[in-house]
Amino acid sequence: MSATGQRLANFKMSTDLFIGANASLNMEPVLRKVFSDDKQVMVVMDQGISKTAIASSICDTLTAAQLSFAVFDKISSNPTDQSVVHAFEFLKKEKCFALIAVGGGSSIDTAKAVGLLATNGGDLRDYYGNDKVKIPPLPLVAIPTTAGTGSEVSPTSMITDTSRKKIKFGIRSELNCPRAAILDPTLLRFLPSHIAAVCGMDALSHAIESFVSLWSNPFTEPLSLQAISLIGRNLKSFVEDPNNFQFASAVMYGSTMAGIAFSFARLGNVHCMVRPLEEKYPLSHGLACAALLPHVIRFNFSACPEKFRQIAQGMGLDVQGMNDDEAGKRLVERVQELNEDIGIPMLLKGIQARSEDVREMAKVCAETPYNQWNPRYTEEEDFRQIFEMALQV
Ligand SMILES: [Fe+2]
Repeated sequence: MSATGQRLANFKMSTDLFIGANASLNMEPVLRKVFSDDKQVMVVMDQGISKTAIASSICDTLTAAQLSFAVFDKISSNPTDQSVVHAFEFLKKEKCFALIAVGGGSSIDTAKAVGLLATNGGDLRDYYGNDKVKIPPLPLVAIPTTAGTGSEVSPTSMITDTSRKKIKFGIRSELNCPRAAILDPTLLRFLPSHIAAVCGMDALSHAIESFVSLWSNPFTEPLSLQAISLIGRNLKSFVEDPNNFQFASAVMYGSTMAGIAFSFARLGNVHCMVRPLEEKYPLSHGLACAALLPHVIRFNFSACPEKFRQIAQGMGLDVQGMNDDEAGKRLVERVQELNEDIGIPMLLKGIQARSEDVREMAKVCAETPYNQWNPRYTEEEDFRQIFEMALQV
């Protein structure tokens, strides 16, 4: 807090972005810049990627650049403290001094955590929370093959702690940001439609939540709003045809813009509520976001109707002439229509929430610090009601 009681807002881009069709095939100058000496690089990916043409073309590019590398492809979804240690052992065995992460949030978050263990030592739990990382991690280049998490530009690494009832913890430090990210929309062409759908709704949630956050500022807001427009107008077409470059680039660039924005503006009730929901039920992060987003918008609308009108317009709705109630209802309907268009209700089938779980999750949410970011103050009873609507309890 400053002397006037205002929070000191800030904005800084820590990650160099390289953008465009086939950027991953033309990245040699980026690699030369980030990996300034000829030390061995660890390439982190999951087996879904390592068996595709994406992995072979990236390995060919590294070979052509005469870069020595070792591939670790044992990444599973939702990295744990144990899986990170496993990856770290590989890095030490192969004597690697830099990292390239190819994949979604799980690969990139694992690479961030491995890089900080390599330079800071100790146990991963030492770094849970904010700004505990003191020494810059090993240099990391992120090459996302999904569009959703924003991890390629964010300072956060989400890790599941196996010793504490599998609760997810964030390691947040500006030092964690990858040195460079290669945004190549052609890498999204093999994305299964259900993954494209849930990752896209994660990204849209980042864009909307960062835009209305109490910590948003004049530098984050344009990025959030452009992300809302790019994702909101193109996600349905992208899910139908991930091979279409125009749709893929809109969703990929929108996702990264949202990642930059939420790194500073932070997030709101969707991401507050997603954490206990993911721990209780077999839902992916993006699917949980998709289920909650329309109901959180309905709850939050009255806190900043002008901003939600901008969101509606960004998504292509004409809300001029509507009063706030009508505009809010139309925006909620639009997000629900988008969910239906991309098959979210089908993916949610079979999730039957219990009312005792809802009460427990609402209590957990009320104990988090999200009220400092969410635009409308939210009590435990509010969380319970939003969960009930989203999960149809
Ligand atoms: Fe998210």
